[in-house]
Amino acid sequence: MSRKMSKNHSPRENDPYYDGVPDYMIDVYDWAYVDPKWARALDRNWVVRVLLFFNDQRLIRAYLNEIREGTRVWQVAHVYGDMVTRAAKKVGPSGAFHLTDITPAQIEHATRKLAGMDWARVIRADASSHADADQKPYDLICSFFLLHEVPEEKKHAIVNHMLAKLPRNGKAVFVDYDNPAWWQPIRYILKVVNHYLEPFAEAMWKNPIQHYASQADRFTWRKTGFFGGVYQCVIVEHKA
Ligand SMILES: C[S@@+](CC[C@H](N)C(=O)[O-])C[C@H]1O[C@@H](n2cnc3c(N)ncnc32)[C@H](O)[C@@H]1O
Repeated sequence: MSRKMSKNHSPRENDPYYDGVPDYMIDVYDWAYVDPKWARALDRNWVVRVLLFFNDQRLIRAYLNEIREGTRVWQVAHVYGDMVTRAAKKVGPSGAFHLTDITPAQIEHATRKLAGMDWARVIRADASSHADADQKPYDLICSFFLLHEVPEEKKHAIVNHMLAKLPRNGKAVFVDYDNPAWWQPIRYILKVVNHYLEPFAEAMWKNPIQHYASQADRFTWRKTGFFGGVYQCVIVEHKA
């Protein structure tokens, strides 16, 4: 239910930055992606670097390495810093790069970053229901650190929708948190961070990403772990 429809009327009810934004975003991530002041302040490469404990470049590469020039790519949510620009440039003018996001502030940032790239489109949509107006299949669909930020039912809906949009020769890429090894000190830092700031994240420690797919056995799931199991990149394709 969006805030606009919520019974808890807030002073932000008529603020366009909050219009149609789901409650979980306002309740948990207002400071990060909804309030335009904060979103503007945080949209920087160094923020991504710190949040990912200096693993940003190799995790970004895990996605960018899958992009082929001239293909059709859907990135399901915006990411701070220059990653979306790099992804769109790699697709190039002979392809199509579609970026969706649910909050007006993030849509503004993405639109600014991708200005001048005619092959890139920024679309305000929920990753669990985005319908491409061209109705052409995507070669690559990527979720970069989105799943850990959404409630369980939304994780199911996003994974199922991404897989439903995946053509037989397409690839889905999920880069996200995983279950860190017991010896990885970051495990204990993240326990505290998750407790106070990221209530939907620890489910990623318990469930493999295929847990969220209702027809997981129709696909192959190829996982690479990073940084003592803190992060994972999972590449999903239809079974031959
Ligand atoms: C992909 S995550 C990226 C997290 C990472 N901390 C970063 O560096 O930006 C955050 C984005 O997901 C968006 N988002 C949250 N729920 C969404 C949904 N259901 N559909 C599309 N985008 C969503 C948020 O608005 C935000 O821009």
